[in-house]
Amino acid sequence: MLTLKINGKDMSVDVAPETPLLWVIRDALGYTGTKFGCGIGQCGACTVHVEGHATRSCQLPVSAATGKAITTIEGLSADGSHPVQKAWIQEQVPQCGYCQSGQIMSAVALLAKTPKPTDADIDAAMSGNICRCGTYQRIRKAIHVAAEMAR
Ligand code: FES
Ligand code: FES
Repeated sequence: MLTLKINGKDMSVDVAPETPLLWVIRDALGYTGTKFGCGIGQCGACTVHVEGHATRSCQLPVSAATGKAITTIEGLSADGSHPVQKAWIQEQVPQCGYCQSGQIMSAVALLAKTPKPTDADIDAAMSGNICRCGTYQRIRKAIHVAAEMAR
């Protein structure tokens, strides 16, 4: 049995220690907001926060996440009221939506470190999150809007 601290709650899971965190989040704990895209650390769809850092959960063995604060998209707010979620809605960012929880988690981590990012800051921080629908311009705009909302 392993104990994980997810979205502020301690949760016990009976999984092999080498199981990727993504599988545990989705299949064992039912937090399906985090998506499986590539499974090889290349797309960013599976991004969560581990101790506040944007982390590819498909690449992290669950044993490496025990004792650390893990946040999934469900942990940002109960009602979509986090500034980044509000900005995403205002700017109508998603198209198919598949990549978007990973995009949002990377954006939240960026704004925690850099409250007023430049376009270059945004491009650098978001470069590992792929959007097959090409919503990059709206993502960039929404991050600027979220930065304003948070001030
Ligand atoms: S599913 Fe983890 S980076 Fe693509
Ligand atoms: S909105 Fe479709 S992959 Fe990004």
